[in-house]
Amino acid sequence: MSKHLDEARRILAVNDRGGYTVPTDRLYPFQWNWDSAFVAMGFSLYDVDRAYRELERLAEGQWADGMIPHIVFHQPSDTYFPGANVWRTRHSVPTSGITQPPVFAIALRKVHEAAGPAEARTPPLYEAALKWHRWWYSARDPKGTGLVALLHPWESGSDNSPAWDLALARVPTTTETAVARKDTGHVNAEMRPRDEDYRRFIHLVDTYAACDWEPARQWEKAPFKVAEVQTTAILLKAGEDLEHLARLLGRQDDAAEIAALNALSRKALLAQWRPEFSRFVSRDLISGEDVAAPTQAGFIPLLSLDLEEEIAGALVNEMKAWSKGVKVAFPTTKPGIESFEPKRYWRGPAWAIINWLLIDGLKRNGQTDLAEELRKSTIDAIETEGFAEYFDPTTGEGCGGLGFSWTAAAYLWLIRQ
Ligand code: GLC
Repeated sequence: MSKHLDEARRILAVNDRGGYTVPTDRLYPFQWNWDSAFVAMGFSLYDVDRAYRELERLAEGQWADGMIPHIVFHQPSDTYFPGANVWRTRHSVPTSGITQPPVFAIALRKVHEAAGPAEARTPPLYEAALKWHRWWYSARDPKGTGLVALLHPWESGSDNSPAWDLALARVPTTTETAVARKDTGHVNAEMRPRDEDYRRFIHLVDTYAACDWEPARQWEKAPFKVAEVQTTAILLKAGEDLEHLARLLGRQDDAAEIAALNALSRKALLAQWRPEFSRFVSRDLISGEDVAAPTQAGFIPLLSLDLEEEIAGALVNEMKAWSKGVKVAFPTTKPGIESFEPKRYWRGPAWAIINWLLIDGLKRNGQTDLAEELRKSTIDAIETEGFAEYFDPTTGEGCGGLGFSWTAAAYLWLIRQ
C-alpha cells in the first residue's frame, strides 16, 4: 500500500472515538453529521463493519421528528464551543439542534453495495434515512416548493460562505449566551469566521432554543431562512439513492413516495438556473431575492441533475474560468472578487469533499476531462501538503486543522477511481 493510503487509514483510526470518527482532534471533538457520511464511504472500501458502525452511531442522535443533528455529543469535551449546554436540546444523547447536508443515504447505498453478508444492517439505517428525508420536506419546505431551506448557516456545512453575508447581516449580534470561542485557540484566527459572525450564529441558536427546537415555531420566528441549492442537490442525490434502496428492500410504497419528492426537487432545482451567472442560485426566503454571491454551491446541482448540453457546457466553462491560474481547484468563492479570501474557511479555500461532489457531478454529466483534472489536482494537493482540513487555492498550502478525517476519506475514494 502506498504511504499516503496508509496515512489516510491511520488518520481514520486515530480519530476513532469508539465506532464514530471525530473530524479532527480538539478542534472538532464530537461526531459531525456529513463528515461521518463521507468517512463511512471511505471505510466502505476496506472495512464494511466499521462503515456501518459510523452510520449507526450517527443515527443514535436522530430526533423523534426525524432530524439527524449536525453534532452528536457522545462524550463530553471542553475544547469546542458551542457545546451541548448551549444548544439546550432534549435528546437522550446530547446533540446540537440544527442539521447538516444529507449525505447519509448516499453513503448508505455505497456501504450496502460493499457489504456482502453484512447487508442485514442496512434496513434500520434505511428507515433512519427515510425519516430524515421526510423531515427535510415537512420541516424545511412546508410550502412544498421542492427546495429545502436552512435556518442557520452551519446547516449548509459552508459556515461562513459569502452566500450568507446579506442574509446574516439582518441577524442581530446580541446573544443571551456568552460567546466563548475555542476554535481560535486551535488554529489561526485569520483562517476562521469573524467574531461578529459568531455572535450572529449564536443569536440564531438562542432564538431556536427559545422555540423549544420545534420546527413550525422555528420556521415562523427564523430571522435567517435560505432555500438552498447545494443542500437540495445533495438531498436529491441522496433521494435517488434512497429510492434505489427502497426498491432493493421491496418497499414499493416508500419508493413511490421518494420518487415523487425527487421529481419535485428536480424541477425546483432546475428553475434556479441563471444563464446570466452560468450558475444555479439559492433564494433568500426573507428578502425574496436570489442569492447572487458566487460560491461553489452554484455548481453542486451537477451532482443530481442530468443537464442539457447547453447548461452543462456553460457551467463547465464557468468552473474553468474560476480555476484558471489557481494552484488547487475548486475555489469555494470566485477568485478576484472582494469577498474572496483564499485562507478563510469557506470564503475561497478548496475542500476535498466539495471536489468529490463536483467530480461525481461532472462525471454524471459526461464532463470527464474536467472531472479527471479536478481529481488529480485534489490528490496532488493532499500528497504534497498532507490531510489538511482545506487548501489555499492560490498557493496550495494546507490550512485549518490537520489529520482531517474527511480529507482522508476523500483521498481513499478518489485515488481508486
Ligand atoms: C466546520 C465545517 C463543517 C464541518 C465541521 C466539521 O464547521 O464548516 O462543514 O462539518 O467543521 O468538520
